[in-house]
Amino acid sequence: MESRASLYILVLLLGFSQAFYLTQPEEEDITTRILSTNKGFSEPLLEGDIHVKRSRTAVICTNNNCYWKKSPNGLVEVPYILSSAFSSSDKTVISNAMSSFHNKTCIRFISRTNQTDYLSIKSNGACYSDVGKSGGAQVVSLSQLGCIYYGVVQHELNHALGFYHEHVRSDRDNYVTIKWNNIDPTMTSNFNLKNTNNLNTPYDYSSVMHYGRTAFSINGLDTITPIPDPSVKIGQRQELSNIDVRRINTLYKC
Ligand SMILES: *[C@@H]1O[C@H](CO)[C@@H](O)[C@H](O)[C@H]1NC(C)=O
Ligand SMILES: *[C@@H]1O[C@H](CO)[C@@H](O)[C@H](O)[C@H]1NC(C)=O
Ligand SMILES: [Zn+2]
Repeated sequence: MESRASLYILVLLLGFSQAFYLTQPEEEDITTRILSTNKGFSEPLLEGDIHVKRSRTAVICTNNNCYWKKSPNGLVEVPYILSSAFSSSDKTVISNAMSSFHNKTCIRFISRTNQTDYLSIKSNGACYSDVGKSGGAQVVSLSQLGCIYYGVVQHELNHALGFYHEHVRSDRDNYVTIKWNNIDPTMTSNFNLKNTNNLNTPYDYSSVMHYGRTAFSINGLDTITPIPDPSVKIGQRQELSNIDVRRINTLYKC
């Protein structure tokens, strides 16, 4: 009886500590999660998690070459290899994140056989990706120490499909105010506007590609404030939004 009760308490405590461990990071927005993981990473990362090739200054798409090709069967296959360093639970998170793309779009992440262009998914000490297909093996880094979360994996994979951060899209100033005074002065370039193809979709506060309100803050105050309603939630990392899905389907003519 007594040992049963203490066993129960032990299980309960374990349950609680696990719940605490799991929910604590869940409450952070996507940038807090990604940027805290990437702090101190030695390679240049644009906007915190976009890998910058030293040989070029920006990702420029000529001849649609930075998009993945559609197969005759109408599916867009994106081959990948996974580092053997990932644990089976890491692999489950990654494969669940991929399965949402499979369920909602014509993108299919497939195990690479002999394809020339593919994602090499590894734990490289930060969360980052190139934007679009860069040719050959391209790294999507998902650090085991901080990036193995369903929404973070989707965010990085969506970069690899060709999507930038929502807060830099060309018309963002109509939807958010950038609070320049609250941004770490060495980080202001992360808020530079991009000449984006918005695919006839509205600005999307709920995008998994939208940064959180205190991204790159130097004082803890907002750097990105939605307008006109400042209380609108930004920075979610639960799931591709409906508009994220629509954009993928539009870009890839699914
Ligand atoms: C994708 O669909 C399958 C089959 O309906 C389902 O079991 C799975 O949970 C879905 N995955 C996601 C991430 O929505
Ligand atoms: C991959 O293998 C298939 C089947 O053996 C072959 O037809 C194809 O040309 C190969 N592709 C490359 C890029 O080597
Ligand atoms: Zn990003």
